[in-house]
Amino acid sequence: MALQTTNPSGTKAWMDLREHFAEMQFVSMKDLFAADASRAGKFHLKWNDFLIDYSKNVITGDTMKLLRELASEMQLKDAIDKYFSGDVINQTENRAVLHTALRAKSDVEVKVDGQNVMPEIVAVKEKMKSFSERIISGVQKGFTNKAFTDVVNIGIGGSDLGPAMAVEALAYYQNHLKVHFVSNVDGDHVMETLKKLNPETTLFVVVSKTFTTQETLSNAETIRNWFLRSGKQSDVAKHFVAVSTNIEKVTEFGIAAENIFPMWDWVGGRFSLWSAVGLSIALAVGFENFDKLLTGANGMDEHFRTATFDQNIPVTLALLTVWYNNFFGAETEALIPYTQYLQKLAPYLQQGIMESNGKSIGRDGNPVNYQTGTIIWGEPGTNSQHAFFQLIHQGTKLIPTDFIGFAKPLHGNQDHHDKLMSNFFAQTEALLNGKTEDQVRMEFTKTQYSTGQAEFLLPFKVFQGDKPTNTILIDKLTPEALGALIAMYEHKIFVQGVVWNIFSYDQWGVELGKQLANKILDEIHSGQVKKHDASTTFLLQHFLERK
Ligand code: F6P
Repeated sequence: MALQTTNPSGTKAWMDLREHFAEMQFVSMKDLFAADASRAGKFHLKWNDFLIDYSKNVITGDTMKLLRELASEMQLKDAIDKYFSGDVINQTENRAVLHTALRAKSDVEVKVDGQNVMPEIVAVKEKMKSFSERIISGVQKGFTNKAFTDVVNIGIGGSDLGPAMAVEALAYYQNHLKVHFVSNVDGDHVMETLKKLNPETTLFVVVSKTFTTQETLSNAETIRNWFLRSGKQSDVAKHFVAVSTNIEKVTEFGIAAENIFPMWDWVGGRFSLWSAVGLSIALAVGFENFDKLLTGANGMDEHFRTATFDQNIPVTLALLTVWYNNFFGAETEALIPYTQYLQKLAPYLQQGIMESNGKSIGRDGNPVNYQTGTIIWGEPGTNSQHAFFQLIHQGTKLIPTDFIGFAKPLHGNQDHHDKLMSNFFAQTEALLNGKTEDQVRMEFTKTQYSTGQAEFLLPFKVFQGDKPTNTILIDKLTPEALGALIAMYEHKIFVQGVVWNIFSYDQWGVELGKQLANKILDEIHSGQVKKHDASTTFLLQHFLERK
């Protein structure tokens, strides 16, 4: 059954939140902390080895209560049941949304169109397991009988970002295989990658759900042609495998049937790393670790599906975003992982969050009259502190920020880790408390500034504080923890989509550019610029003259 359709801005809870916001917008978090010593105790959640402290937000118990009422009025509980049970909640593409089934325990039943899909999922996982084990152990060899040393994942969007992020995130657990990612249709990207590779020892994994994506097919063809300069056509079967729903197109491309890892249309590209799209993850860290990633995600799925809203991590995080996005008018959110391993988390979640919730038509088919998807950005700390934190601390924009950190380092370098984590805690403290005029004046007493200089500098040195943050503190960056963290954000996306009354699982907005690019490519090939707006015509003519 479909998701219900209600304009959230017409609900009672929304009106109550508007009234509540009228007061809260002037409330200082510092005062809230001063007034209630047990605030952190009240506004945190613990689950497995996750601690989520959301006390550094401009909220009271009433705020959270009203936000949860909004979720209830938007029938979130019913939506969660439909999401997990394979209802066609991606109505604009007439599909179920079942990435959760990919990490479900094999003995449960998950039905799509009355068919239990678990046996197929288990069979593909078995195939991934035996294939990755044969490649890692060197039992399966290349065309000159040498073991593989390198793997190239050829894909884009969800067929690239998830595997690339996870391989980087789990680098500590990586085996001897070097995994490369070619995504951009920019020929320099593929050529730079090939430069480092030996065709005799390289395995190519072509990942495309549709197998119609221009970038991926162009890169796969270029790479196959490069490979055929050393190997024969019959050697392609030993070096190329594909992950796709489109078996016909993969076969047309020349990849042998036994080298195809199927996926299903009920897995969205940006939620697909749990499927065979994650083959390069299994190759990089071994199937056992890949399976642990799935186990971690499954744990978060169960938490999300069963926890009451007041104890539910994805629900709480999603509602906090709604609070800032729809009432405070915050437009962006930053994600700051305090580990270099998660340097690709923000780009990965940019697709997850912005492709999902960057929508302006409600589920009733009418334009929404409120804000939807937030802009996501971020970089690991401490690097980001030296790059853009100035704006978060003293700029004019409100930027709610998630800080993600780990209690233990992986390599055991405690000295570095203590320094890293002291920054992690210091930043959220600084963002909360800021620095008052009195504190700045006190600091001046210890400097050589003249009174004139001190008075001049004073306003520049004051930090207003009261900047909201969530602290997500996890014991250790294990495959299980990574799985749970990603699943946490996936469910946050879902909750926001339900509350904003939009369809989160289509992406029609990326189609127009693709269509126009095909038209323009014909014009570039023929040298004949057709009808465009004056700017595009002018630019194309200039390009054709210069190319
Ligand atoms: O352009 C958007 C998109 O459709 C994404 O949603 C998807 O992850 C990506 O392209 C790649 O698609 P495919 O896996 O079909 O090549």
